[in-house]
Amino acid sequence: MNRTRFLLRTAAIYGLIGAFIGSHMAGAGSYIYRSVHAHILVVGWLSLFAFSVYYKLFPIPKQSKLAFLHVWTAFLGSIGLTAGMWFYYVQPFPEADLFNMIFFIIGGTILLISFILFAIMTFVHGKYIQE
Ligand code: HEM
Ligand code: HEM
Repeated sequence: MNRTRFLLRTAAIYGLIGAFIGSHMAGAGSYIYRSVHAHILVVGWLSLFAFSVYYKLFPIPKQSKLAFLHVWTAFLGSIGLTAGMWFYYVQPFPEADLFNMIFFIIGGTILLISFILFAIMTFVHGKYIQE
């Protein structure tokens, strides 16, 4: 898998969805989607874009397990967090209270793990960061 291309395309799709939701919020005058919109853009668009550029800039080895785990937790965590926020704040399924909260917590935790892995990677793979 090409990490840069995968993350870049995912970021672009997030950007599209996030900007669309922003336009909808502005048009509808309802800010119920505010945190979903904000996280789709700052996590999905900006952070995944930054990760994509990171893998392009630095020659992290293809077989790096850390990088593999980082990319997949970023992908799954960003979906988990934003969908979880949608379940929790917008309440499309209000009867599934416990599910909404657990989904939100698990999604957020996976994303947090992704950021931890990224921080570790900048040290463990420090030698690939050129002067
Ligand atoms: C189509 C373009 C966009 C529209 C129409 C739009 C619209 C909005 C609206 C109506 C709000 C709610 C404002 C409020 O709470 O008073 C909002 C919040 C926010 N937007 Fe956007 N937005 C757009 C693009 C973006 C982009 C590209 C980003 C970041 C990359 C972004 C990041 C945020 C953030 C972080 C918030 C939360 C701000 C806060 O809670 O104070 N938005 N946006
Ligand atoms: C690790 C998982 C994360 C969790 C569980 C989380 C959770 C939250 C929560 C609960 C809020 C308050 C939302 C509200 O009451 O409207 C918030 C706000 C915010 N977060 Fe996050 N967040 C996470 C990651 C991030 C990341 C990585 C960024 C930036 C790259 C970010 C940027 C923001 C911004 C700009 C706001 C204010 C906008 C808003 O009100 O929604 N968050 N976050």
